[in-house]
Amino acid sequence: MDPTRDNPLIRIKAFIDGLGIFTLFAVILLLILGVGALFGWFAKTDTPDDAAGDIRYEIKAEIDAAQATVLTEQQIAAVVGDVAGKLAASKPVAIEKPEQIVPGSDTANQLADAPAVDLTAIDTPAEDADAPIDPAVMEIGKAQFMVCGACHGQNGEGGAAGPPLAGSKLVSGPISNLILIQLRGLKRGPVEIDGVAYNFPAGMAPMSYQTDEQVAGVLTYVRNSFGNKASAVKPEQVEALRGEVGKPQVAAEELIQP
Ligand code: HEC
Repeated sequence: MDPTRDNPLIRIKAFIDGLGIFTLFAVILLLILGVGALFGWFAKTDTPDDAAGDIRYEIKAEIDAAQATVLTEQQIAAVVGDVAGKLAASKPVAIEKPEQIVPGSDTANQLADAPAVDLTAIDTPAEDADAPIDPAVMEIGKAQFMVCGACHGQNGEGGAAGPPLAGSKLVSGPISNLILIQLRGLKRGPVEIDGVAYNFPAGMAPMSYQTDEQVAGVLTYVRNSFGNKASAVKPEQVEALRGEVGKPQVAAEELIQP
């Protein structure tokens, strides 16, 4: 029998040697893993989809960062609210049809608050009522009349769509009538003008899109064309009646009899 086999000292030494070799291998393995990790030997390789996904995340992050520096949500809301408010406030009264005006709305209140206008002040002949008509005003009126002529005839002779303005007592009569017709339109139902019966069921639409100068010009023009002769209409007289815009079309009984 081999005497060394029974020697406990030798056995312990063999055990410790084994332990040492095991530790040495373990350390070498850890070293390899560590160096490998450092150089990325074991990193999972990206598929093309992964790579594309990464790029998308990067782009999104860039966009988010860029947007964060431009406008915050509150700032955008403030701007949008402001624009909407301005649009609503600037909505012209004239485009709202009278029957569409909501009771209690801003427009309704505005109309109700419109000061009662002294028509006699407008209809009292001005001191310069006999003054020659300014050709520049007639030019403005002539240009405006292109539209009117479509219904009233280019020479004011009248037609299927509008009564004659030539020789009309209304045209050479009180100025307030004519301004009201321009700003509110006219709806008389069946009428007789110089012995001829007319009926325009829809009446005449308001022409309030015209400026004060244009309304004054076209009225001065029709009062001094087609054989008519009457005093000029002034922009201030039109301005005085602007509060009437949006009210229903003028009815026959609202007109001052010429
Ligand atoms: C789309 C057709 C049309 C256009 C455009 C038009 N009118 Fe009229 N106008 C009428 C009709 C219809 C009447 C009669 C309405 C009624 O009696 O109910 C009328 C009536 C009048 C009257 C009253 C005439 C009278 O002796 O009874 C005057 C003044 C008048 N228009 C002026 C104008 C002027 C100025 C313009 C252009 C700025 C114009 N109109 C554009 C259709 C039109």
